[in-house]
Amino acid sequence: MTLHLKNITLPIVEDEALEKTPSPPQIEFCSVTKMYGAVAAVKDLSLAVRRGEFLTILGPSGSGKTTVLMLLAGFVAPTEGDILIAGKSVGSVPSYRRDQGIVFQSYALFPHLTVRRNLEFPLEMRGMKAAQRATHVDRMLERVDLKDFGSRMPSQLSGGQQQRVALARALIADPPFLLLDEPLGALDRNLREQMQGELKSLHREFGKTTICVTHDQEEALTLSDRIVVMRAGEIEQTDTPEALYDRPRTRFVANFLGEANILENPGFKVESDATRPSGTVPMIRPERIYIAAATAPKRADADQRQFVTGIVEDMIYAGPLRKYYVRAGSSVLIVREHVAAGQQIFRSGDEVRLEWLRCDVRFVTA
Ligand SMILES: Nc1ncnc2c1ncn2[C@@H]1O[C@H](COP(=O)(O)OP(=O)(O)OP(=O)(O)O)[C@@H](O)[C@H]1O
Ligand SMILES: [Mg+2]
Repeated sequence: MTLHLKNITLPIVEDEALEKTPSPPQIEFCSVTKMYGAVAAVKDLSLAVRRGEFLTILGPSGSGKTTVLMLLAGFVAPTEGDILIAGKSVGSVPSYRRDQGIVFQSYALFPHLTVRRNLEFPLEMRGMKAAQRATHVDRMLERVDLKDFGSRMPSQLSGGQQQRVALARALIADPPFLLLDEPLGALDRNLREQMQGELKSLHREFGKTTICVTHDQEEALTLSDRIVVMRAGEIEQTDTPEALYDRPRTRFVANFLGEANILENPGFKVESDATRPSGTVPMIRPERIYIAAATAPKRADADQRQFVTGIVEDMIYAGPLRKYYVRAGSSVLIVREHVAAGQQIFRSGDEVRLEWLRCDVRFVTA
């Protein structure tokens, strides 16, 4: 379609076509390897991060998460491969010229400077005039709810308050992207959840591309647009939180993100609507299994379900959840049930019937 204006002919780009044009990645790892002696901390890693994306790197200790951030920040150089920022190789750009906001686990606030001076520091480094710095700092202190704390020393703040100062300091100079290494690692559970909300709202407001390292799976699921699961220096799977949890490709991912019943030789035939790809084992999440008395009437959609009988080995009450361990065939299945009024509670030794929809069975590589 074209639009004619006097002598000028302009092509009209349909909205739909615009939406289909993917924006170029802001950050790209191209087959990056980092060796420490004979140990590959990161192995042939390729990853593209979109502008504005909140990407979380999740993985067990020693899997290479911090090394990925160090490479991007320029604190260590790749042994092989290249890193591009906005399409340009940054191999030869020193870390102090890379301009990113960084928050490491230990906050790393300057202990001898007040909160205000901590926030002013990155602005001063960029040569901003005092009056302008003051306005920026005021605005940021207000944003992180620390308006009256500017003259305190970091040691006079709680963990959560220090964390907010660290985030504010990372954001204040408007870096092109944020690197967060276990930013909430030092906080207790309640504060951690509160700060997760804060991180999310800061991300929404500032729209900064953020790469966040954590080994807390719940945190990763809550915060991220996409999650990268790392294992021994390599990417095991990259996906949205929902896809990663609901359709893990490997047994490692299934087990690392939540609990999984891996039905490898379970002692009963596992039924499924899909054919099982070779080299895979069936898996079902504990919350997809229903537990009922062995004699309870079946539901109307019984033809879409698999039923197995079992004996309860243990029941664990965890506030809003009840977790059952049920021996069925030659395996022990974990069942997770939300506590609700009128539910029948089973005890160890009870005979029960487990059931699940056949379409809830997944296949993961062994
Ligand atoms: N400076 C170094 N010298 C030698 N080996 C290193 C160095 N830094 C990291 N490693 C090794 O590289 C691997 C990856 O380390 P990295 O710090 O990236 O792991 P991580 O995923 O961040 O772990 P954690 O969750 O414990 O912080 C580990 O085996 C580690 O021992
Ligand atoms: Mg680390």
